[in-house]
Amino acid sequence: MDSYIDIRTAPPAHKARRTESIKLYGPDAFEGMRRAGALTATCLDGVTDLVRDGTPLSEINTFVLHFAASHNARPATLGYKGYEYACCTSVNHVVCHGFPNGKKLRNGDIVNVDVTLVVDGWHGDSSRMYAVGKPKRAAERLMQIAHEAMMQGIQAVRPGARLGDIGHAIQSYAAFERCSVVRDFCGHGIGQVFHDSPNILNFGKPGTGPELREGMIFTVEPMINLGGSGVKMLADDWTAVTRDKSLSAQFEHSIGVTADGFEIFTLSPQALHAHGSSLAVARP
Ligand code: MF3
Ligand code: CO
Ligand code: CO
Repeated sequence: MDSYIDIRTAPPAHKARRTESIKLYGPDAFEGMRRAGALTATCLDGVTDLVRDGTPLSEINTFVLHFAASHNARPATLGYKGYEYACCTSVNHVVCHGFPNGKKLRNGDIVNVDVTLVVDGWHGDSSRMYAVGKPKRAAERLMQIAHEAMMQGIQAVRPGARLGDIGHAIQSYAAFERCSVVRDFCGHGIGQVFHDSPNILNFGKPGTGPELREGMIFTVEPMINLGGSGVKMLADDWTAVTRDKSLSAQFEHSIGVTADGFEIFTLSPQALHAHGSSLAVARP
């Protein structure tokens, strides 16, 4: 039996703790997630102009740090399980959790920037792909497929659907496009906890898994590879790369389950999210 807790009526101890039960949130939580999500999305909009040939990844980290500080927010990744940066920057064959270090972006690179800002205790977690200059067609195509895979997963969300429906939608779309889905990472419940249950797998069987109920809040964040699905961890114990060195792309939204579907908390105020920010914007 899957269990759920209505956190509006649960004892306060449930609030800020990871629980095995799935939390069901009310209107105040949705309001908190809207604010955190909007701030994270605004921050990711601001990253757009930094993504150009020669920018060291550390500059993106500095931008996120200052952006958070000047908006009364905290980057959730800073100090999280020993992680030392305000965001993750994953370039080309890096699947996720790349360090924003001194490495410089180069024309033709594609990069995922993943930011989680905490506002009044609520976590807005989102990531996007950015293109440096003009990447090869295959790279552009992969970014579009990763965005569409996330949207296919999100569109499966409504009360009464099952968790497996989300993963199935993502996996079958990726397979249709002859791409593979990374199996080693998944989305997660979110709210006043960064990574809460349930896990939101990016593959699955339709009609299986816990039922989606109004008030659930979680992320959808598939990682899609041009080549095989295999990943390996670098010696730093964080950076995940594709085994076959093929390109990898990812998008992430934080969403809530509403009475008749879903609400996306991390939409770009400048509509830069749609096809990867730098793809949607005309660039010189
Ligand atoms: N933001 C990532 C996610 O989508 C988690 C990054 S954890 C870190 O869940 F420590 F690597 F930053
Ligand atoms: Co996440
Ligand atoms: Co994230």
